[in-house]
Amino acid sequence: MPFSSFRLAISDWRTTRKVVRESIRVRGVSGTFAQIFRQVYYSIRKLSPSRRRARRVREEALNASYRDFDMVYGVDTTTPIPIETLATDSDNWLFGNRYEPIVPREFHDMMHAAGEVAEGRVFIDLGCGKGRALLLASEYPFKRIIGVEFASELVRLARENLLRYRNTRQVCRDLEVIEADAATYSFPDDPLVIYLFNPFGPEVLAPVVEAVRRALHRQPRPVTILYYKPVHDRLWAGVPELQRVTAFPGDSRSLSYSIYQSSQPCVG
Ligand SMILES: C[S@@+](CC[C@H](N)C(=O)[O-])C[C@H]1O[C@@H](n2cnc3c(N)ncnc32)[C@H](O)[C@@H]1O
Repeated sequence: MPFSSFRLAISDWRTTRKVVRESIRVRGVSGTFAQIFRQVYYSIRKLSPSRRRARRVREEALNASYRDFDMVYGVDTTTPIPIETLATDSDNWLFGNRYEPIVPREFHDMMHAAGEVAEGRVFIDLGCGKGRALLLASEYPFKRIIGVEFASELVRLARENLLRYRNTRQVCRDLEVIEADAATYSFPDDPLVIYLFNPFGPEVLAPVVEAVRRALHRQPRPVTILYYKPVHDRLWAGVPELQRVTAFPGDSRSLSYSIYQSSQPCVG
């Protein structure tokens, strides 16, 4: 075995051990077995020839559109990064999802479906990764744009991307990236648009939803939630202060996105 493959195998084994140990600590032994069973089931399903073909076609199309964005705007947002290879101080890495950027057209579709929500509001991306969505949001007249990310490497890359980005359509220039765990982030008292691209599981989303509820009680104001790939949609749907205004169907198993508004509905 060449040395590089050997090193990769060792580091993968260490990563696996780390994930399993943490999973047993947090989920318990039976919860960990259930999780392993789910992963094996989905991996086997992915092996069917028709699913493999469909995935290859979709990934090729997506990669082409991702690369175009980086080339046109001089940034580096495309390559996905598995969560277990990222360094963070937070124990919540176990519940986080890998970095992958949103497709620009899908972001703009979602903003269009939300209506005129940008003027005077603060846009917050919880789990901003390399900052693709922050850059896309800067084409709308937001008052301020904030990315929250817990992996230091991604925070560094996102900050570099904000500096390198060149787009004549950019209208908001007040952008920042905060290194923090979304579970403990305190929302500012402004009208908000909170965007999430399925960044984490219900263990982290539940305290986030609770923080939004508390923020609305402290200071009632327009708040819009844009939840892309809304795997844990039921958590937002259970908040009486929010009404779901749009649910856009994705593939046969899932919704592509959900939009919730607190008040002053302004769906176009
Ligand atoms: C699917 S990517 C979303 C990328 C970006 N929002 C976009 O739309 O292009 C999910 C991101 O959430 C981050 N993340 C996961 N758990 C987190 C947590 N508890 N706090 C902050 N960021 C988290 C991951 O590191 C990853 O960068």
